[in-house]
Amino acid sequence: MAASFALGHYDESARYILTHAGVRPRVGLILGSGLGRLADAVENAVALPFVDIPHFVASTVPGHSGKLVLGTLAGAPVCVMQGRVHYYEGYTLQQVTLPVRVMQRMGVRTLIISNAAGGLNPDFNVGDLMILDDHINFVGMAGHNPLTGPNLDEFGPRFPAANHIYSRSLRQLAGDVAAQQGLSLRHGVYIILSGPNFETPAEVRFLRTIGADAVGMSTVPEALVAHHAGMQVLGISTITNVAIDQLDAAGEPSHEEVQDAGHLITPRLSKLLLGILGRLAD
Ligand code: HPA
Repeated sequence: MAASFALGHYDESARYILTHAGVRPRVGLILGSGLGRLADAVENAVALPFVDIPHFVASTVPGHSGKLVLGTLAGAPVCVMQGRVHYYEGYTLQQVTLPVRVMQRMGVRTLIISNAAGGLNPDFNVGDLMILDDHINFVGMAGHNPLTGPNLDEFGPRFPAANHIYSRSLRQLAGDVAAQQGLSLRHGVYIILSGPNFETPAEVRFLRTIGADAVGMSTVPEALVAHHAGMQVLGISTITNVAIDQLDAAGEPSHEEVQDAGHLITPRLSKLLLGILGRLAD
């Protein structure tokens, strides 16, 4: 298993995908837990299982089907990850983020990342959609960053800035489309924890205190790598559960709860994403 990849690895994956796909994608989508059904709407779709693509690794999580789907959505040439892999599955962060760099080598310049997240902001409810204005890379602060290792200058600089990761124009576009659709959106700060366990009540209170609105186990590595490679990034969290901050509160978060809520939110998320893609295709 390669500790890090060279440009040739990314290009090998890109060549395999482009040889099989009918389109050259411009927009990438990563669909998180229980949110993958939009991929079924891709027209002229070519679906490639991750396991068949050089250097890709298999998703081991229920609800993440592990396919790359290429085709067009709302007129936009897309490359959709139906499912993703996570750090907690035991993969390196370079493996987790390899598909993002492969998309960049194929010509993708806009990446839309969705995820399931626990609501930390007391105003948030299950079913809310939150645009990521910013993130806290808590896993990165603990020394785990996908950009660690030899820098590939073909993608971006050794010391990339991180104050403009989530594109202002894409956040505005999402707001415009949502307003047209009569959909209300939240905005906030997403924090990544490695997982796979959910948070203790003390951790929930701590995460809220340090400025996070939603917590999850993904997205930040992909967003960092995409931004490093010059891509425009939009991040959207679906609030699938409200994080429990009291020690003796009843109930426990579970993957089933996250997936069930994801399925309920998918129609609204899909409509929003199709609206955004339609505007990007114009
Ligand atoms: N915590 C961490 N990750 C999550 C959660 C949560 O509450 N919900 C969905 N993903």
